[in-house]
Amino acid sequence: MSRYWSAVVHGLTPYVPGEQPKLPNLVKLNTNENPYGPSPQALAAMRAEVADTLRLYPDPNADRLKEAVAAHFGLTAQEVFVGNGSDEVLAHVFLALLKHERPILFPDITYSFYPVYCGLYGVAYETVPLDGQFAIRAADYARPNGGIIFPNPNAPTGRALALAEIEAIIEANPDSVVVIDEAYVDFGAESAAALVGRHANLLVVQTLSKSRSLAGLRVGFAVGNKDLIEALERVKNSFNSYPLDRIAIAGATAAILDREHFETTRQAVIASREGLTRDLTRLGFEVLPSAANFVFARHPQHDGGVLARALRERSVIVRHFKLPRIEQFLRITVGTDAQCAALTAALAAILEDVRT
Ligand SMILES: Cc1ncc(COP(=O)(O)O)c(C=O)c1O
Repeated sequence: MSRYWSAVVHGLTPYVPGEQPKLPNLVKLNTNENPYGPSPQALAAMRAEVADTLRLYPDPNADRLKEAVAAHFGLTAQEVFVGNGSDEVLAHVFLALLKHERPILFPDITYSFYPVYCGLYGVAYETVPLDGQFAIRAADYARPNGGIIFPNPNAPTGRALALAEIEAIIEANPDSVVVIDEAYVDFGAESAAALVGRHANLLVVQTLSKSRSLAGLRVGFAVGNKDLIEALERVKNSFNSYPLDRIAIAGATAAILDREHFETTRQAVIASREGLTRDLTRLGFEVLPSAANFVFARHPQHDGGVLARALRERSVIVRHFKLPRIEQFLRITVGTDAQCAALTAALAAILEDVRT
């Protein structure tokens, strides 16, 4: 606290990201990073960019990247916005498209950055409870609102909503923008990007942090009607003209173009997720059906917080949220098969310790 702080800063409750400990030999399954490396073509493109040209500013519009994203989805570059991680894209979305008279809607259990952006930009919100199986019910979003946002698959549950349900929400809300945050979509859900041509009030946000394994590069994007994209450009150009540097533009473009690496690595993660789900179920966990690169699981006889701490003592870190409805759950990132095996072995030992 300081008397030099603005009133806005006094009122902020910032987001707390999952920790990035510097300990050796850690099985790190807490921040939904991809266990496989980025595309070799992306790495080569980035290395080539480390050159004398770094003295020049990058392309403020990142046209190359926008064109690659547009081609990927069969859209035009005017329907694409890019930013410094999808967190930055989302921040601009809150200011550009979700700040209206009425409160916006998002699920009671969801990405915990949304209420933080609301606090930063003064956006009122109401939360809509997930059902008893932790699923989003489309019908609950047919009520007056200033906008709607949720991840698909949802975080931290991992549960996906079918495209028809998403379209029902979009159609029930022609006067507000519906934002689908698809950070995890490539691991098993259907992208709403296919609906962009049909709905002027749909914005889809994606990231290269998860399925393209580039969390360290900080690149995200949005696709939607060109009027929505223009709103985001207006905010971006009132904030930072160059959110993506030359290396990021080169690496992200090559990563989008490398379809083969994307396919093989995401299929590997999906296969490991199925194995991990089976192993956790065998240990007595209830595992929510996941379409993401993480699973959300609880054990009927063991406290979530106690399990997370016991795992940590064995150098395995997972994410535990001390929040209503979900404090018995662990959110476990799908790692390599070896990392998943280390996690299940540690859990088996912990459960055994408690029994004896
Ligand atoms: C639902 C959701 N949206 C967005 C993000 C932000 O991703 P990034 O800023 O790395 O693109 C995350 C990160 O974990 C997430 O879980």
